[in-house]
Amino acid sequence: MKIGFIGCGKIAEPMIRSVARRFPQACICVSKRSAEISLRLESQIENLKVGDNQWVLDQSDIIVLSVLADVARKIFPDLNFRKNHKTISVMADISLAEVCDLIGPAHNPCVTIPLPFIETGNCPLPVYPDSALLEQIFGDENPIILLESEEHMGPHFAATAILSTMMAQLNCAGSWLGNKTGSLVNAEIYVASLVSGYLNTVPKDGNNRFLEVMQDLSTEGGLNTQLLNHNRSAGMLTTLNAGLEALGERLKGNG
Ligand SMILES: NC(=O)c1ccc[n+]([C@@H]2O[C@H](COP(=O)([O-])OP(=O)(O)OC[C@H]3O[C@@H](n4cnc5c(N)ncnc54)[C@H](OP(=O)(O)O)[C@@H]3O)[C@@H](O)[C@H]2O)c1
Repeated sequence: MKIGFIGCGKIAEPMIRSVARRFPQACICVSKRSAEISLRLESQIENLKVGDNQWVLDQSDIIVLSVLADVARKIFPDLNFRKNHKTISVMADISLAEVCDLIGPAHNPCVTIPLPFIETGNCPLPVYPDSALLEQIFGDENPIILLESEEHMGPHFAATAILSTMMAQLNCAGSWLGNKTGSLVNAEIYVASLVSGYLNTVPKDGNNRFLEVMQDLSTEGGLNTQLLNHNRSAGMLTTLNAGLEALGERLKGNG
């Protein structure tokens, strides 16, 4: 495999590390950008070399487009992509049609949304359109979720924003517990293990499992029921839904 990364920032690095870990024979070429990251990767990964963007394209069959959309608009028209380049875009804020225009004569890119924990696997990868390439490179350890249309990518980007809210809730529970017991350290260990252990038991097969778990936890008069009812009547879920709607609007048309 000869794979090149245009851009070497926060999302390219974990993707590169994932590829290097699972395909040790792959030749990996990376833009000489974000010097601290790209040079560190070069010093740590045997088959990885850094160079200018055109060199990355010339050396590679598979290209991962991992720059900001405005940078892509500025630099791609001056680069010579090949017709037989296979491309994966991870760029938000730019439609596939525009990406196609920018990378011609390369064609048929797919777009996906990796998150930094792709480095260790189990990172859900929504993709449009279907991509055997993405499956081949990342599908062995990351669930690939095929979208029916490009318009569904925006809401997936929006849904990633649930993470900070979840962390704020866990931080709230951990701090509350730590203040009661005097050990913030143990409280964080307890809450983090409670939630990750519980989530690990939930099958990720899309079969209404969140509701199923909520039903299992909702003993009448139980602790979980009391707290959920309290939060629900304070409008927590309605507010969350409204926040997601606002993000969905913001990301409309961004592909
Ligand atoms: N971060 C995430 O979790 C995430 C998740 C999904 C998708 N994305 C998407 O991935 C793309 C990159 O995001 P990021 O978070 O990785 O941003 P980032 O950390 O800012 O990385 C952008 C990279 O582009 C490089 N760059 C800038 N100008 C360049 C040029 N002329 N030629 C080649 N490379 C150039 C930067 O190098 P310098 O540092 O030298 O300027 C940097 O390595 C974005 O489109 C974003 O929407 C990000």
